[in-house]
Amino acid sequence: MSSSSFNFTLLMPLLVGCLMVASASHFNQDFDITWGDGRGKIVNNGEVLTLSLDKASGSGFQSKNEYLFGKIDMQLKLVPGNSAGTVTAYYLSSKGSTWDEIDFEFLGNLSGDPYILHTNVFSQGKGNREQQFYLWFDPTADFHTYSILWNPQRIIFSVDGRPIREFKNMESIGVPFPKNQPMRIYSSLWNADDWATRGGLVKTDWTQAPFTASYRNFNADACVWSNGASSCKSNTPSSASANNAWFSQEMDSTSQQRLQWVQKNYMIYNYCTDAKRFPQGLPPECNMS
Ligand SMILES: *[C@@H]1O[C@H](CO)[C@@H](O)[C@H](O)[C@H]1NC(C)=O
Repeated sequence: MSSSSFNFTLLMPLLVGCLMVASASHFNQDFDITWGDGRGKIVNNGEVLTLSLDKASGSGFQSKNEYLFGKIDMQLKLVPGNSAGTVTAYYLSSKGSTWDEIDFEFLGNLSGDPYILHTNVFSQGKGNREQQFYLWFDPTADFHTYSILWNPQRIIFSVDGRPIREFKNMESIGVPFPKNQPMRIYSSLWNADDWATRGGLVKTDWTQAPFTASYRNFNADACVWSNGASSCKSNTPSSASANNAWFSQEMDSTSQQRLQWVQKNYMIYNYCTDAKRFPQGLPPECNMS
């Protein structure tokens, strides 16, 4: 064997490996910056996306693809320092007046005061299912992974792999569940100082602008919807689950315990315990879990 072919054999897997990693998180390939007149940017060879906000405008992006079920991960590093009044929204949404939506929203705060992670689930145009959390780390110091697992039976919100919220399919008791409308991924950074920080008490300090949030390591194990068809061969669990464990994923007892730890220690609002807000009675799904 010649020495040159030997070297080539060693090198090949390395080259292939590098190409795959690079394409796995290429924002140009998966997203369009949709508004903000240059305030949204794709940088570092497509590996990082940044959104910014100043007094004149915020900015936003959306996925090129629409998805109908998936496990979707994104790493975010939120606006540091005095981010009071700013909101970074990261969500899945379908279109139309009876849309479905799965939301993460990050409400900024004064330096050193905690962000609020706000979550909601809309089905067929109806939301009002807010749960809010503090985080167990500073979300502005580093990137952290925010994930949505969405399959026909449940939606699980996770932070760094730790489940923080589960919304189950409860169609059996008449609660609509998002399962027929494909959704796109959206994100935006905007000014919401009329409500975001301490209920609107703390305003955005524009001397700190521009405010910037960063994104990286997007990954979607998902069924892509195009021209009325799913990239997953069939929506039946048996055929999809061969390649896609997420399609039939449930919360095992370890996940339940980790979820409970978050809910006990970090949940600051739960619509299901807000009896005052629902004088006619809590929404039906609240009596199920
Ligand atoms: C901001 O900090 C205050 C004071 O600690 C806290 O009450 C509030 O929940 C924090 N977050 C937001 C978004 O208002």
